[in-house]
Amino acid sequence: MTQPQARPTEPQTPGLLGDTAQRDYARKLGLFMRFAEPELRQGVALLGLEPGMQVLDAGCGSGEALAWLAEAVGPQGRVVGVDLSTAHIQAARAQAPASVELLCGDLMTLPLPASGLDAVWSSNTLNHFADPLAALRQLATSLRPGGRLAVGQTGFLPEMLFAWDSRLERAVVDGVRAHYRERYGLDEERLTAVRANLGLLRQAGLAQVQAHTFVIERISPLDVATRDYLLEAQFRPLFGDRLRRWLTPQDHAALQRLCDPADPGFALARPDFHYLQTYTVVTGVKA
Ligand SMILES: C[S@@+](CC[C@H](N)C(=O)[O-])C[C@H]1O[C@@H](n2cnc3c(N)ncnc32)[C@H](O)[C@@H]1O
Repeated sequence: MTQPQARPTEPQTPGLLGDTAQRDYARKLGLFMRFAEPELRQGVALLGLEPGMQVLDAGCGSGEALAWLAEAVGPQGRVVGVDLSTAHIQAARAQAPASVELLCGDLMTLPLPASGLDAVWSSNTLNHFADPLAALRQLATSLRPGGRLAVGQTGFLPEMLFAWDSRLERAVVDGVRAHYRERYGLDEERLTAVRANLGLLRQAGLAQVQAHTFVIERISPLDVATRDYLLEAQFRPLFGDRLRRWLTPQDHAALQRLCDPADPGFALARPDFHYLQTYTVVTGVKA
């Protein structure tokens, strides 16, 4: 078993979304993984893992998927997780099965297992790279010929958030886009590059490229994982003060009421709450 290693240097290719070895959003990642577990597992299933296979999770974050991969390849198999963030690797170590190997560092420069893997899983990670095609090519070097790669990506923003008020929803979504454009200095094209994975896998020379989109659909009454994720990872950090300058005072006040568990109109307690978000997994095979 490889222990998490401290990484002394930052990635050579700077991340688009501000990732560093010191950055820690493990809690938010854990909330997301528990919320979207059913759809993420459907994505993992596309790898067709069998007992004894060797698989890499590139950008494993807080590591929930490592247990699912280990389950699929069994005790004779091998699971390796890689992540840049020391805190994320620590979170992954705390919960992944002991047999899972973890590597901490920039996957562009780390010595990844060479050419022998049966499968690579990478979820919500390619969009963090300034050069996602180079990252994809790097991941493909770990695969044996005939090995399978699956790249999962949630839609940039939910397809439906406030089912009863499309105008306010549009204003909020536009505000979030404006916030992210400013925060990360990204233009619209870079911000929405998450849609481009199909073309990237083809450009990277993978064969049999296919796309599969799962819909993360949640309706009231909400399960605990959905409530926790939406409240703690979206409503509280993103829809509060950060959006104030992008909304009219009336819309900002309406949004605050929707996001407040103590308010009678709290969105997540409404009987008509109906949430839709896509999760697209693009798969390919190394020629
Ligand atoms: C949004 S998280 C994805 C976590 C999880 N796979 C999921 O499905 O939600 C992106 C992860 O990629 C990692 N990451 C970003 N740049 C990286 C790099 N250059 N090398 C390795 N990991 C990187 C981040 O630290 C973070 O844990």
